[in-house]
Amino acid sequence: MSEPKKLYIKTYGCQMNVYDSERMAEAMGGQGYVETKSPDDADMILLNTCHIREKAAEKVYSELGRFKGLKAEKPDLKIGVAGCVAQAEGQEIMRRQPLVDLVVGPQSYHRLPEMEAKTREGKKALDTDFPEEDKFEKLKNRPKAKRGPTAFLTVQEGCDKFCAFCVVPYTRGAEVSRPADRILHEARDLVERGVREITLLGQNVNAYHGAGPNGDMTLAGLIWELNKVDGLERIRFTTSHPNDMTDDLIEAHGTCDRLMPYLHLPVQSGSDRILKRMNRSHTADSYLRLIERIREARPDILMSGDFIVGFPEETDEDFKATLDLVEQVRYGYAYSFKYSTRPGTPAAERPQVDPEKADSRLQELQAVITRHQREIQDSMVGRKLRVLFEKPGRQSGQMVGKSEYLHAVHVSDASLKVGELRDVRVVSSGANSLAAELL
Ligand code: 5AD
Ligand code: SF4
Repeated sequence: MSEPKKLYIKTYGCQMNVYDSERMAEAMGGQGYVETKSPDDADMILLNTCHIREKAAEKVYSELGRFKGLKAEKPDLKIGVAGCVAQAEGQEIMRRQPLVDLVVGPQSYHRLPEMEAKTREGKKALDTDFPEEDKFEKLKNRPKAKRGPTAFLTVQEGCDKFCAFCVVPYTRGAEVSRPADRILHEARDLVERGVREITLLGQNVNAYHGAGPNGDMTLAGLIWELNKVDGLERIRFTTSHPNDMTDDLIEAHGTCDRLMPYLHLPVQSGSDRILKRMNRSHTADSYLRLIERIREARPDILMSGDFIVGFPEETDEDFKATLDLVEQVRYGYAYSFKYSTRPGTPAAERPQVDPEKADSRLQELQAVITRHQREIQDSMVGRKLRVLFEKPGRQSGQMVGKSEYLHAVHVSDASLKVGELRDVRVVSSGANSLAAELL
């Protein structure tokens, strides 16, 4: 028997790309490929790219340039670009970098095996269509391999919101939800393979409206169905839009026992003037009132968010409104970014904020966020938490897992095993994790 061919995938960006890369690896598994951790011994290299911020395309070109030597040594090596840069740049990638054999957009991954075959005939393969089929259904070619205790599961893709700064509606296309039965089937399969926690993914996950047995199902409806899956202990979802936080989903946070008390709910800015210019269709006040309702349903919920500073025309006063909002919410985690121009989006044409000003605002915002994060993490000391253990820690006999609130927790106990869910008492709070003892 011949040696299996080797596939090296490098994944950039969001969790959805991580999920997509796994599906691509499985699909190529059906073509006789096994994954390798190094590009050096690969027969095929795939860059699964992200286009959301910064000079994404330039980074991809410089990364591709580094494979020049490898390709010279091994002319049979196939190089592909997938993900949102592939979608945004298309043919341009092959024109600028002749090393590239294959360009595949996020909605065409199910066509990857045929595309690879085409490259083996010495042709170039490009597909950046938005076909109607469920790509994940077509990608179902999976070996029943054991899995770790946590997994992502994509339930919805694309976005119809068109925030003025964002490329997602262009690169991932219009919002599409997968039918509930396929998701439940995939969830049961993951559980059989050892998964105990599933994070439902979607660019606009709480707008989920997939076909169910009695018409369309909401995300809350789907969560309640997943709550019945034997062996699935924890459910999370990300990323949500404030305008799609429906009553049933808020209520589920109070009543659904396996839904974890953590919610990533980006607001982007605390200034109504900027929110309007961002086309966010909510105000700072409506967002704060929403959080109040969520906290009524689940008082201990840990909030997480995203912020953009230096959005075109942002004044000191607008920025101060963002700081005020952050003080009111007190996020357990928050991700803040300096605005970066995305060609083709409405905000790209507008007057830009002085980059130094944007830098100093970013630092100021991050300092406040870090302080809250610290205080919230430290407040866990002495508390009883439930931890899903995911992997051995750095020290021998140590295991690391995540609490309900997604804090990393480590425990020194040689008897602990990966995949165990145990009650612990937190004894101290370190730089990025909590130390705890088993109860
Ligand atoms: N510039 C800076 N940050 C951005 N994000 C999206 N587009 C941009 C951009 N052009 C941020 C938003 C979003 C997160 C995933 O990335 O905060 O919620
Ligand atoms: Fe982008 Fe999120 Fe806005 Fe959609 S809701 S356009 S994904 S920032």
